[in-house]
Amino acid sequence: MNRTLVKHALASNGPMEHILIQGWVRTRRDAKAFSFVEVNDGTSLKSIQVIVDASLEDYRNIAEVTTGASVSIQGKLVASQGKGQSWEVIAEGLEVVGPSTPEYPLQKKGHTAEYLREIAHLRPRSNLFGAVFRVRSRLAHAIHRFFQERDFLYIHTPIITASDCEGAGELFRVTTFDPHTSPTNGTAPQPDADFFGRSTFLTVSGQLAAEVFACALSNVYTFGPTFRAENSNTSRHASEFWMIEPEVAFCDLQGNMDLAEAFVKSLIQDLVESCPDEIDLFNRFVDKGLKARLQLILDRPFQRVSYREAIEILQACDATFDYPVEYGANLQSEHERYLTETHFKCPTTVFDYPKSIKPFYMRANDDDETVAAMDVLVPGIGEIVGGSQREEREDRLLEQIKHHELLPEDYWWYLDLRRFGSVPHSGFGLGFERMLMLVTGVANIRDVIPFARTPGSAEF
Ligand code: 4AD
Ligand code: MG
Repeated sequence: MNRTLVKHALASNGPMEHILIQGWVRTRRDAKAFSFVEVNDGTSLKSIQVIVDASLEDYRNIAEVTTGASVSIQGKLVASQGKGQSWEVIAEGLEVVGPSTPEYPLQKKGHTAEYLREIAHLRPRSNLFGAVFRVRSRLAHAIHRFFQERDFLYIHTPIITASDCEGAGELFRVTTFDPHTSPTNGTAPQPDADFFGRSTFLTVSGQLAAEVFACALSNVYTFGPTFRAENSNTSRHASEFWMIEPEVAFCDLQGNMDLAEAFVKSLIQDLVESCPDEIDLFNRFVDKGLKARLQLILDRPFQRVSYREAIEILQACDATFDYPVEYGANLQSEHERYLTETHFKCPTTVFDYPKSIKPFYMRANDDDETVAAMDVLVPGIGEIVGGSQREEREDRLLEQIKHHELLPEDYWWYLDLRRFGSVPHSGFGLGFERMLMLVTGVANIRDVIPFARTPGSAEF
């Protein structure tokens, strides 16, 4: 007999004479003549209730049907007498596939997120993390759907790269040199003797490669893992995270801001419709303001404000910040959150940042002091999207490469794009985990990624 997933059993149109349910036992309650067993298989927040009659031959196994055990149950699907569920299973056969023990760490309800992080291999079996990872999967789907419906091609940009796109020096080196075997002649191993014949790193962004494809295929996006050896231990930074990076030819900063706004809204709309049980759970147990906030983001246009105006707002306000507000300095997350949470009370797109604090590839504005950059800031998180119009003028780009002390010969192919049929083009990066934090209300990035990699931590 084919297995029926719990989510389909619970949504059944009618009773079923024969059903096979397989999953993990959440709880068992014994009455005199029968036991109630709650079985969850991770396909839905709700478990299915199974009634095992004491007269059943397999009832002799009931002592092994404990929290955490895996079971396979055959029976009938019938309308439930109890409240809160439409269907339940009357067991006719019950097999304990893998027993558990009283040491199973998810016995009690209400574990803290910190404790569950220590058992990251079991936390997907909890209600909260099951919901997080179902939403994570659906979010990935919604991302592909958004772009595929708009004629964007999915490009698989490389994980191993030779360039530091963001120029922040936060690179993990990729090498086959063994640090434990000291070089024979006492000198450090040279990059040209390494596997690729040069220094290589895990990518911090797929953008440069995406630009190549946008300048041939028009609308493209990448969606993959990115890596940053940034030593910041915050609730919003991970050393390995996923990023979605669209890149669009014949598109300026305005078009880029429009796309980012439509994208973020569309993802929220998709999840509100496709994961209502999960969003309800988050709204009840994680963040009571979640649903109202998501609705507000859907209903209102994002506020747009130049960096200069943003600085003026922050300087004029009466909030106290840990970091000074100065024209020419990066906005800190406390500043970003003030703008979006307190001042505008909606997602806010800040554009035209000073050239001095942005990477080499951003297009210089006519004032020659700012670049056509944009960041989308959202309540509770701060920056969720970072992007720009790219410098499409070869001479200006070369200037910037030199100014940032990069080697033009390392960027010959990137410069070539400006030499042969250059076009204005723009793109941005959306942090996948930060987007998940926004739609779930989960406050720590470690709790929206299966196995978090952060400074000093890579267990599991
Ligand atoms: O602003 P960032 O650094 O932009 C880029 O990498 C550009 N090359 C993107 C582009 O234009 N194609 O990163 C983009 C987004 C941030 O807004 C943030 O949401 C996320 O990536 N991000 C991180 N998420 C988790 N952990 C980190 N350490 C992150 N660093 C950036
Ligand atoms: Mg950024």
